[in-house]
Amino acid sequence: MTSTPLTITTPAGSYPILVGPGLLAELPARLDALGLRGALWLISDSKVYPRYGAAVEGPLRDAGYKVQSRAVPAGEASKNLAVVSACYDWMIGGGVERRDAVLALGGGVVGDLAGFVAATVLRAVAFVQLPTTLLAMVDSALGGKTGVNHPLGTNLIGAFHQPRLVLSDTATLETLPPRELRAGWAEVIKHGIIRDAGLFDQLEVMSSEFKVMSFELPESIKTQNSKLKTQNLAEIIRRAAKVKVDVVNADEREAGERMLLNYGHTLGHALEAASGYGVLRHGEAVAIGMDLAGRVAERLGMWSADSVERQRRLLRAYGLPTAIPAEIDPAALLELTLHDKKVRAGRVRWVLPTAIGAATVRDDVPEALVRDVVGG
Ligand SMILES: NC(=O)c1ccc[n+]([C@@H]2O[C@H](COP(=O)([O-])OP(=O)(O)OC[C@H]3O[C@@H](n4cnc5c(N)ncnc54)[C@H](O)[C@@H]3O)[C@@H](O)[C@H]2O)c1
Ligand SMILES: [Zn+2]
Repeated sequence: MTSTPLTITTPAGSYPILVGPGLLAELPARLDALGLRGALWLISDSKVYPRYGAAVEGPLRDAGYKVQSRAVPAGEASKNLAVVSACYDWMIGGGVERRDAVLALGGGVVGDLAGFVAATVLRAVAFVQLPTTLLAMVDSALGGKTGVNHPLGTNLIGAFHQPRLVLSDTATLETLPPRELRAGWAEVIKHGIIRDAGLFDQLEVMSSEFKVMSFELPESIKTQNSKLKTQNLAEIIRRAAKVKVDVVNADEREAGERMLLNYGHTLGHALEAASGYGVLRHGEAVAIGMDLAGRVAERLGMWSADSVERQRRLLRAYGLPTAIPAEIDPAALLELTLHDKKVRAGRVRWVLPTAIGAATVRDDVPEALVRDVVGG
C-alpha cells in the first residue's frame, strides 16, 4: 500500500482515493476490504479497454470475482442515454443484483457514464472509479457527479452517486495522448491557483526542470530527468486531487466552495461553444479562460500583474494556450459569456483569484471591463 488515502466524506458515507503507480494490482484486495464481493460490471472505452482491461480483469478473476466487461466507443459522443440504455440491457439481461458493483475504467467520459448507470440500475449499485486520464484523476472521478449529455446541452441529465473507492493508477498515464495530458494539466494548475500555492510552486519547479515546450509527461519524467520519477508525478496528482477532495468535503452539493472549481470555466465554456465543441480540448479552453479571468481580477485590483504573468508562464510551460484563437470572434464570445442561459438573475458569477492559492466568487464584474479584457 503506497500512501495514506485521501478521503471524501459525504452524508452517504466516506470513501478512499488512492493515487500511485501500479495500484490496479491492489484492486481485488481493496474491493474485498470494502465488502464488495458481488459480480463486477466493468465499463470502459474502445481505447482504454484493449490496453488495461486484462490487467484489471485477470487479478479480479484470480481472486474469485465474476467480471463482465463492456467497452463503449471512446469519446464524448458515448455520454448519452442510448449508451446508458444499452448498458441497462447488458446488466439486467445478465442478471445484475443489488450486491454487485460497476467499475469505471477510463477517463471522465467513462466515469460519468458508468457512474450514472450505477446510480440508476436497480435504484443504485456500488460504484468504483478507476480513472486513466489526468483530468479524471484530479477532477471528474472525485465528488460523485455522474451523468450524460442531452442533445440540447452537455451534462444535463445526471445524478449524484458517490463511488465506494477511487483508485488512480498513475502508470496508466504512460499511454495517454500528450494533448489529453496537457488538458489535464490545466485543471491541476487551476487547483494550485484556487487553493494551493505550494502546488503551484511545485509545478513551476517541475516545469523549469524539463524541456518544457516539449512537455510530455510521464515519458519525459522517465527518460529525460532522473530527479522526477513516476512517484513524483503521483505526488503532484495526489496533491491536485486533494484540492478537489477538500472542496467537496467542505461542500458536497455545489453552492459556495465548489463554485471555486469553476475558475477559468466561465469563459472556458464560452470558448468551447464559440469554437464548436471538440475543436479546443476542455482543458485548453479552461487555460485561456484562466488567463482572461486572471486579467479581469487584475483590472479589478484583486490580483497582481506579476501573478497574471506567473500563471501565463506556467500554463504555457505545460503546453497550454493562453490566447483566444484568431478564428473566434470576441463579440460572439462575450455574448456567450454574458448571456449564458445558466447565468442567474442576469449576473455572471466569476471565480477570480485573490492570490496564488486563493480565489473568490464575484457577481459584480462590470460588463465593460470584461469586454475590454476579451477585446470584443
Ligand atoms: N463528473 C465530474 O465532476 C466531471 C468533472 C469534469 C469533467 N467531467 C467530464 O469528463 C469528460 C472528459 O474527461 P476526459 O478528459 O478524461 O476525456 P475522455 O474520457 O474522453 O478521455 C480522453 C481520451 O483519452 C483516451 N484515454 C483515456 N485514458 C487513456 C489512457 N490511459 N491511455 C490512452 N488513452 C486513454 C480516451 O479513450 C479518450 O479518447 C467530459 O465528458 C466532462 O463532462 C466530469
Ligand atoms: Zn474543467
